[in-house]
Amino acid sequence: MNARTTRILAATLSLTAALAISGCSGSEGDAAKPAPTVSGAFMPEPVNDKMAGAFMVIKNGSKTADKLTGVTSTLSDDLQIHETKDQKMQQVPSLDVPANGELKLERGGSHVMFMGLKSTPKVGDKVTIELRFEKADPIKVELDVKERTYTAQNSNAH
Ligand code: CU
Repeated sequence: MNARTTRILAATLSLTAALAISGCSGSEGDAAKPAPTVSGAFMPEPVNDKMAGAFMVIKNGSKTADKLTGVTSTLSDDLQIHETKDQKMQQVPSLDVPANGELKLERGGSHVMFMGLKSTPKVGDKVTIELRFEKADPIKVELDVKERTYTAQNSNAH
């Protein structure tokens, strides 16, 4: 490779780098990074301090698929992600939050599960949890504690 080719190559590379940098520094440029939003988050009033479930819809408006990888809360040291198979629930390491799609955590399906509660919340209380993702920044979500029979009104997709 001669000196001239090297110079052109170097110029091309730095131009590409500059484009890549400006491409993700603008406020609009973050569309590729997921920034999920949560709606309808609730916890049915727990029966006792052994366990509780949390349900919500996690929306991903970006073009990048993400995964829910963990949940934390001051109410419990052990929050798990569960899915339901053949009417039995099992712990899974993560759940997909599809690009331009949503992850539904609902009764009879995938959900967040508190194993062991430090106190037993009552209807009307709020419980704060933090959702962790593979790509998106963690987000804090407030769960409304609802009657045990409550189901989200916004899921009409069945
Ligand atoms: Cu469960």
